[in-house]
Parts: sequence; C-alpha cells; structure tokens
Amino acid sequence: MSFVLSKIENRVARIQLARLDKKNAITAEMYTQIAEALAAADRDPQVRALLLHGAADCFTAGNDVGDFLKRPPSGEGSPTWRFFEVLPHLSKPIVAAVGGPAVGIGTTLLLHCDLVYAAPNARFQLPFVPLGIVPEFASTYLLPLLAGYQRAAELLLLGQPFSAEKAKEVGIVTDVVATENLLSKAAEVAGMLAALPPESLRLTKQLMKKRHGQAVAEAIAEEGKIFRERLSSPEAKEAMSAFLEKRKPDFSRF
Ligand code: COA
Repeated sequence: MSFVLSKIENRVARIQLARLDKKNAITAEMYTQIAEALAAADRDPQVRALLLHGAADCFTAGNDVGDFLKRPPSGEGSPTWRFFEVLPHLSKPIVAAVGGPAVGIGTTLLLHCDLVYAAPNARFQLPFVPLGIVPEFASTYLLPLLAGYQRAAELLLLGQPFSAEKAKEVGIVTDVVATENLLSKAAEVAGMLAALPPESLRLTKQLMKKRHGQAVAEAIAEEGKIFRERLSSPEAKEAMSAFLEKRKPDFSRF
C-alpha cells in the first residue's frame, strides 16, 4: 500500500500524502516515493505544474518519529537526502495546499515551494529544538531571510505551533483560504500556472531561485550533519521517546 499518491490532471501533477491514521507522518519509503513522484513530474513533458497536498485537515505531522529512532537518516544517498535534492531543484512551479498539521518538514518543505495556500485550520510548527535536534532543509537560512531574524528566531528557537495567519505574515504562506476551498483553490492556481508559457515560467523561477542556490545547498549539508549527530543525543532520545510514550519530556538532567 502506498502512502503517496500521484496522478496527472489537466497538465498538473498532483502528489498527495495519504497516511492519515498517522497524520501523514513521513517515513523513509515515503521520502523516496515523494522524491520520485516530483522528479517524474518535472521530467514529464505532459506536466506543466505540480501540486502537493494532504487532506484538507491534515498536511503532514512531519518526519515519522519512530523512524527517526529506528532508522536515523544517514546523509548523502538516503531517502531524505534525495527529497532534499529534488524539491529545491524543480524546474516547474509547485503549489502546496496546507490544512491541519504542518509540522517539522511539513513547514520547512514549504520554503521550497512557489505558492502555498493554507486553510485557517492549518497549524504550523518547527519543533526541532523541543525535540532535541536542529532545523533542517535550509530553514535556518531561508526563514531568517524571509521573515527577518527575530521572527524566525521566535519560530525556530521556541518551536511552538503557529497559525495560518502568522505563517502568511512571516511569508511562508501566499494566502489563507477557507478550508472547504483549500484544495480547489490550490488546484485552480496550479491550473493557471499550467496554462502559462512554460519556458517563460521556467526561466522566471530559475532567476528567482538562482541567487540563493549555493547558500541553500550549503545550509542543507551543514544542518544535515548536525541534525544526524543530534539524533543520537540523550536530549533527542528523551524528547522522542516522550512523544512515543505520550508523556511530557524531562530535560532537567541535561
Ligand atoms: N511520527 C510518528 N507518528 C506520528 C507522528 C509523527 N511525526 N505524528 C502523529 N503520529 C501518530 C501518533 O503517534 C498517533 O498514532 P497512534 O494512533 O498509533 O497513537 C497518530 O499519529 C495520531 O496522532 P495524535 O497525536 O493522536 O493526533 P493529534 O491530532 O492529537 O495531534 C499532531 C496531531 C500532529 C499535533 C501530533 O500528532 C504531533 O505533535 N505529532 C508529532 C509532530 C512532530 O514532532 N513531528 C516531527 C517533526 S521533526
């Protein structure tokens, strides 16, 4: 059974996270499937735009916490690494629709999308510090750039949940739309992109992304190295075991 569904509709490749019983938490297999679906859509001449979504009330609860403990990402060549390579380098525009939880990578991946629509029920969170790890996917570079240092620091250091309105205010979200219109609005915008001159779109996206390409790649590599070291730290073990055991973590002994 696949937890990542993809189909092409009117020149838009729709990629859907579909593991709702676990709040669309992303496992290593799912990273591979998402990366391959994105790469295939980017190559396919029938596709002009991409749309990434979950359900209207659940985008993703982020990396599968159990997977982190059992099979920590191993760096270059790993499924997460492949996903990190593909999303920032898509030549075609990608729209994301976010409702419900968008935790961890569920928020950081949005920094690599072109247009992001969120429902008022969306709940963003960057809980890397509370989990005893460090942020990933170039978020320590892109979020201060987008939001300004202090606003990024609030989100990345405290790691508390924030609303769709706040996500729009800091620049993570393009617009907030009613929950019942979320998927149709995002599909409509992806359709508008698909109807535009493709080469002009491609070049414009490339020009906008180009200046930061090197810095993004460096941030991904540097964060990744520290992230992997932190995963085996006593702080991270306590935080993640507490989540799985449904109890409050205790950091007083560190
Ligand atoms: N990894 C693994 N399993 C997860 C998960 C994750 N990131 N997020 C949710 N789940 C599982 C829960 O363990 C639970 O499984 P169970 O039914 O077998 O007990 C199920 O999904 C439903 O989650 P639950 O916490 O009961 O839903 P909720 O609506 O009360 O809360 C969240 C939703 C997203 C706020 C909450 O699940 C959460 O905080 N998840 C962890 C997010 C996180 O820290 N992600 C890692 C970022 S690096």
